[in-house]
Amino acid sequence: MLEVVDLCSAYGEAQVLNGVSMRVAEGEIVALLGRNGMGKTSLVRSVMGLGSPRITGGRVSIDGADLAGLRSHQIAAKRIGYVPQGRRLFASLTVLEHLEMLDHGLPGAWTVQRVFDAFPRLQERKNHRASQISGGERQMLAIGRALMTGPRILLMDEPTEGLAPVMVELVESILASLRKEGLGILLVEQNLYSALAVADRVYIFETGRVVWEGDPKQLTADQAILERYLGIH
Ligand SMILES: Nc1ncnc2c1ncn2[C@@H]1O[C@H](COP(=O)(O)OP(=O)(O)O)[C@@H](O)[C@H]1O
Ligand SMILES: [Mg+2]
Repeated sequence: MLEVVDLCSAYGEAQVLNGVSMRVAEGEIVALLGRNGMGKTSLVRSVMGLGSPRITGGRVSIDGADLAGLRSHQIAAKRIGYVPQGRRLFASLTVLEHLEMLDHGLPGAWTVQRVFDAFPRLQERKNHRASQISGGERQMLAIGRALMTGPRILLMDEPTEGLAPVMVELVESILASLRKEGLGILLVEQNLYSALAVADRVYIFETGRVVWEGDPKQLTADQAILERYLGIH
């Protein structure tokens, strides 16, 4: 279980998270929604210990063990996976090279073959460079790469951004099958309908704090909340 308690963080002097509390258990998909600029990416980056923004208060723990002071690779080694917004792949490396560089045989980690079994399309494209594959394939590669580290908790920052509807559905089905395997997923989404289709629980962010928490059914039924925090009419 990933637990965030009263987390505050800042870019320089500018506070971006103002006391965030949330949790993600294994086997559940938790959506984090909110308009642009509300601090969703900053929350995920803070949890991953990336250093920017800088944590100024509160705590992050996994199974009760505090992550304070750990570097991002040490946090990844606690089996917290991260699929960054915009995918962050290496344009000149092939699909296979992206995966092989993470093939460290860690306990619980996925093998290259297991990633290819989950994403047959990546196997077909294994010798293509990241710059030569489609947006959907790049997203599969970013997810596959995160799975290579054997996460129990996976943080995904807008995985459906820029994808065609058929690819969005593919990502949704991947998330559902990862949940079935027991992963806990924190899903940052701009695409409300995609989030509602897969999430078990929802948090809504405004200016770096949680302003609403509930399940997708409650949210769908609450037009006032949809309008106020997500701008949906
Ligand atoms: N590297 C940065 N330096 C300074 N401010 C930043 C930086 N990245 C994001 N911000 C600011 O922090 C706020 C939250 O951004 P972000 O976490 O990216 O929001 P979201 O992911 O919800 O769109 C925004 O006001 C944004 O301008
Ligand atoms: Mg963002």
